[in-house]
Amino acid sequence: MTEEIEALEGGGKHGTAGLMLVTVSALIMAVAVTVLGYITQFAGDKIVLTDLTEFLGNLHPVVLHLPIGIFVLVLAMELTGLLSFDKWRPQTSFPMFVGVVSAVVATIFGCLLFRQGDRSLDEAIWHMWGSIAFTVVGTLAFLAKIWADHSGSKSPIYGILLVVTMGLLGWSAHGGGEMTHGDPFGPYISKVFGTGPEKPDTLPVVAKAPEDRLVYEEIIVPILHGKCYECHADADKNPSGKKKIKGKFVMTDMESLKKGGSSDEPGITPGDLENSYIHYAIHLPVDEDEHMPPEDKDQLGAHEIAIIDWWITSGAPVGTTLKENNPPAEILQGVAKLVPPEELLAKQAAAAEAAAKAQAAAEAKRAELGKAIDEVGKSFPNALRYVSQDSSDLTFTAVSMRKDFGDEGVEKLLPVGNAIVELEIGATSVTDSGVAHLASMPHLQRVKLNETAVTDAALDTISKLPELEYLNLVSTAVTDEGLKKLEGLSKLRKLYLWQSKATKEGADALKAKLPECEINLGLD
Ligand code: HEC
Repeated sequence: MTEEIEALEGGGKHGTAGLMLVTVSALIMAVAVTVLGYITQFAGDKIVLTDLTEFLGNLHPVVLHLPIGIFVLVLAMELTGLLSFDKWRPQTSFPMFVGVVSAVVATIFGCLLFRQGDRSLDEAIWHMWGSIAFTVVGTLAFLAKIWADHSGSKSPIYGILLVVTMGLLGWSAHGGGEMTHGDPFGPYISKVFGTGPEKPDTLPVVAKAPEDRLVYEEIIVPILHGKCYECHADADKNPSGKKKIKGKFVMTDMESLKKGGSSDEPGITPGDLENSYIHYAIHLPVDEDEHMPPEDKDQLGAHEIAIIDWWITSGAPVGTTLKENNPPAEILQGVAKLVPPEELLAKQAAAAEAAAKAQAAAEAKRAELGKAIDEVGKSFPNALRYVSQDSSDLTFTAVSMRKDFGDEGVEKLLPVGNAIVELEIGATSVTDSGVAHLASMPHLQRVKLNETAVTDAALDTISKLPELEYLNLVSTAVTDEGLKKLEGLSKLRKLYLWQSKATKEGADALKAKLPECEINLGLD
């Protein structure tokens, strides 16, 4: 097909047969992508993902930049052509061809990624259909372009389709970007290329007496790892698993330590404390901005500071043991106080294991919830979703149903009640008897009951939600009497009461019992 397109650039005196072939293939492709979207959204659990499809899905965020770049380029070329009053006729058919093909690939990969994630996410569904619409209209624009070139016609159809394509592109790219929360590259690149948190940070495994430890590798590195790497290391060495290099200062190898960061002062100068920024930074008073580690972080102990200073003064030796460097007694004692590297390692392994367990537990819970969620989803499409990608907590919103949602609606949520942490049923026809079902949702943290017919009776149930942090009772009939029932909700931090029957006295009385709770009466 490529030759066909290249030939097209020649000036359009070409047989129609080739053009027809391109057109038919492109239309089939557009239909196929649309069908794929449909399958992706509605196939239930019939599609099983393999390692390969999972890998390809993860490539989506990498591939998607190709069609975006190319279509922006095409638009720029066309605009330049327009501005030159047609003196320059940009040849955009070939770039558009590549753009359309890469859009199809990005969409296919995106559909695979979608299958891995939380399929009830509205954003993901919108983003998928936006991208499919972009791909389809982009294909039509491409066809309009080659046919216009062929016939030499000056019809505006191509221009119009191109503008629509760009609009769809902007919209769907924005949706996709928002979903990934800022950095669309990081997590995927590290997942695909293995630089992420999966790759465990390795400290040397040793079980040695303090004086036999290697000064840099087994004493200094563990100290810096514990107190500094979090903000001064690449992803592979960073305990958080994420790249974070503050002040442009990398602390994970000798060369970078000597070089220093954005100030251009050496981080360390072997044998010369005064010309070692680290020494300066760790000795500053804690409340100084430049004090390291920053005030709110786990601070270095006096013995750790002494060890770092002694190491620098001794010429910052690497590859030699403590004993070989004749440490004074206080340094030996200081090193003995440090957590030995082998223990640190064990701690890290335990932490990693705990994290993996929590993850596995969340996954198991999600698998268990799956059926119940599908069931609830049938009654309330798109109202129930996971709080985040790797959580098994659920949030439910009745915003789109309003008065159609009532007490029976709340009852229908009971199969997943244990997993719901957020319930948004404001402005619905829910009453006190519907709220009574909340007794079976013991993990609720946020509840919106504003503009409903609930009364003080509902607060009997609410008062038994130990995790509750946020409660909205705006425009309800609750009174000061009811507020008294909330006194035991020690985690409550936000309570909204405007246009209810509660008064300032009632709110003040509650505030006295729950001093950390912000109670909003809407008076001022
Ligand atoms: C919580 C994050 C954090 C931790 C932990 C941390 N730093 Fe920093 N560090 C910063 C930030 C932010 C800057 C940049 C300050 C600036 O540019 O104003 C910085 C800058 C520095 C600089 C100056 C670099 C230059 O050339 O400008 C040094 C030296 C430094 N840190 C040493 C350390 C040491 C030693 C530790 C561990 C004991 C440490 N930092 C731990 C956040 C951190």
